[in-house]
Amino acid sequence: MQNDRPDLQTEQLIDELMGGFRAAQILMTANRLGLFDLLGESEMNCELLARSLETDARATRILCDSLVGLSLLERTSGGYRNTAVALKHLLTSSPQSKAAMLNHGARLYERWGHLYDSVKRGTPVPNEVLNQELVGGKRDFAKAMTDSARSSAGVTAEKLDLSQALTLLDVGGGPGLFAIEFCTRNPQLSVVIMDDAETLEVAAQNIARAGMEGRITTRPGDVFNDDLGTGYDFIFVSNLIHIYSSDDNRRLVERCASALAPGGRLGLKDFFLDNDRLGPQWSLLFAVNMLVSTEKGDCYTLEEASRWFESAHLRYEERIDLTKFSRLLVARSCK
Ligand SMILES: C[S@@+](CC[C@H](N)C(=O)[O-])C[C@H]1O[C@@H](n2cnc3c(N)ncnc32)[C@H](O)[C@@H]1O
Repeated sequence: MQNDRPDLQTEQLIDELMGGFRAAQILMTANRLGLFDLLGESEMNCELLARSLETDARATRILCDSLVGLSLLERTSGGYRNTAVALKHLLTSSPQSKAAMLNHGARLYERWGHLYDSVKRGTPVPNEVLNQELVGGKRDFAKAMTDSARSSAGVTAEKLDLSQALTLLDVGGGPGLFAIEFCTRNPQLSVVIMDDAETLEVAAQNIARAGMEGRITTRPGDVFNDDLGTGYDFIFVSNLIHIYSSDDNRRLVERCASALAPGGRLGLKDFFLDNDRLGPQWSLLFAVNMLVSTEKGDCYTLEEASRWFESAHLRYEERIDLTKFSRLLVARSCK
């Protein structure tokens, strides 16, 4: 006899995968409205929240209840208040804030809504089809990268031995958090950050806040077309190669190799895939992010990166697993 009971486990998996958008959109909508900042350390009822946020009262109640369901708000006798997790990560003023990253998430969400067209055409989602309120600029992106680098920069500086390096070039160094952490841990080190001029304005603010102006300088430029300088003991490239094609990255690695001092090292940090392309799941999904956002971006395997090193006459030395998602591959110049 045929078993016609639904397979609950697999059915649940599909339901959970499909419903993932709900929690993401609830979180990013509340962040975009400024709900967490408005609550701060206090509690408020729905009517007051709705008046202050200029939102509909019934809709605000439904949104707040869903946030209680996600453990981001608590219901109190007086209304709602932020949970400890919200206070730690969702207030813009918190040292561990993810608010700018969540705004970036809302922009990505808008783009991901057109994934179907990207897969059909093989092209990124054009800005023109997006809600123009959700098309961010370079500064917004740099602020989001500040949020995302806050934890990974510390781990990277801890695990990467730069004790013998005097000079480091951070290519596509964005808001400068890695440069700051590297200099904090290595008092002998000076860093040059290369990125576009607008992004470097955000980096300059972070550098000044850290009091590192004497040791970190900025160099506006494009890694493919502008002079990188020479004689660096280390060149660090974090989360840049996923924007470009494999051929572009071979060229990028060759350009970096020629800017190294004899015996200098190049570090590529990214969401590298295992060679069989079966994982990590994060990287497999992140490649889709690059599909909707860039012309030729992707996630690459460790083997692909080794081939770029070989073609630039660099000797692969080590792989450092930084976080659950980020891997750093280090190769040395044979010059
Ligand atoms: C995803 S962000 C990574 C920022 C930082 N390295 C990190 O890991 O947090 C990529 C950065 O590379 C910069 N970038 C992209 N293409 C570049 C190019 N051709 N030359 C220099 N910088 C570039 C972007 O402006 C951006 O700041």
